[in-house]
Amino acid sequence: MKDDDFNNLQDEFFNSRKLEAIGVLAGGIAHDFNNLLFVIMGNINMAQLKVGRDHDAQRHLVEAEKACLRAKDLTQKFVTFSSGGGPVKCRLALQTLVSSVADLVLSVSMPPWEMKAAEGLWEVEADENQMRQVFAGLLENAGESMTRGGHISISAENVVIDRPGAQGGELNEGRYVKVSIADEGVGIPEENMASIFDPYFSTKYRGSQKGMGFGLAIAHSVIKKHAGRITVESIAGKGTTVSVLIPAVVQRAESFPPARRCSTSPRKRILAMEDEEMPRELIQTMLEHLGYEVVTALEGWQAVELYAESLDCGRGYDAVILDLAVKMGMDGKHAMNKIRYLNPKVRAIVSSGYSSETIMAEYGDCGFCGVLKKPYDLEALKIAMDQALS
Ligand SMILES: Nc1ncnc2c1ncn2[C@@H]1O[C@H](COP(=O)(O)OP(=O)(O)O)[C@@H](O)[C@H]1O
Ligand SMILES: [Mg+2]
Repeated sequence: MKDDDFNNLQDEFFNSRKLEAIGVLAGGIAHDFNNLLFVIMGNINMAQLKVGRDHDAQRHLVEAEKACLRAKDLTQKFVTFSSGGGPVKCRLALQTLVSSVADLVLSVSMPPWEMKAAEGLWEVEADENQMRQVFAGLLENAGESMTRGGHISISAENVVIDRPGAQGGELNEGRYVKVSIADEGVGIPEENMASIFDPYFSTKYRGSQKGMGFGLAIAHSVIKKHAGRITVESIAGKGTTVSVLIPAVVQRAESFPPARRCSTSPRKRILAMEDEEMPRELIQTMLEHLGYEVVTALEGWQAVELYAESLDCGRGYDAVILDLAVKMGMDGKHAMNKIRYLNPKVRAIVSSGYSSETIMAEYGDCGFCGVLKKPYDLEALKIAMDQALS
């Protein structure tokens, strides 16, 4: 190994460790901050209800709520960047994903682009949303770097790493798909190279919408979580090439059940009943993130009605999530009795924050096929849904 290679490897190692440490911190802050934000938003909503629509204070509350929503957005960025936000993987053809993202990102007033994908490109197992975020960030950067014309070349190829540490870096041996995005933009000065992956590092100025500096930070963290690698090569004044390596699916295509494919499988429909607004919105967001079509109900009666209607129109729900305790209306246990009467084979999960309730331990006796103890995370929800739909 040449001295230069060794230095690069060390740089990458320390950079990686530094980002990991910042990630842990960001994740911790995001978690605590999110909880505080829930309380602030909840109270703003309560105040809005109490003062009435025409009150003078209303516009201040609306502004405060808007700021909370922006803070929520920012927290989400932190979560994706931090050690949380683990990938929910499914099989993906990267050339399709990247070109659809490029179509979106590089449409109006952006430079022209072309994509060359090697024939027989392997598929990867990856989180579709996170991958979209990564490539949107990289393509935006490429587009934004080219104020004086030129074009963007995207390539995708299969790569085999035959020994650990080959090609530099910490990759395991195995099969990878490599996607490179080459622009003819301003390039990155040498002195900025050590900082470009840091959150909030940005050389862009967009008024109050100043570059947030999260594009590469998120890309780095997501690719790492997928056991891949991201590298940036740049010549100031000439252009930049960002390459991403993601482990390829090892099994032969035929050995995968078709239901595991992203985007192509029909979306399953879920009915979720939760009486509190914020958790309800959260459950909806999480389920949609997992690729489900979601309808929500505020309490048991509404859930039963929606369930009956769906049977009438021949598009029943594939699964139901029922909150056990509701403040007003019918609770989850009674709703389950009625839904079971409509469809004895219903696949339903009971959810509650009060884990001491006996039904949470003996959910099977009431006809539920799974249980979710609040607060639960995306992974727990995914496991429960997989179990309910298996
Ligand atoms: N393709 C590129 N060409 C030139 N500079 C780039 C490129 N990609 C990233 N950079 C540099 O890295 C910085 C961080 O990028 P990013 O994390 O996406 O944040 P942002 O785009 O919000 O500034 C950019 O501000 C820019 O200086
Ligand atoms: Mg960016």
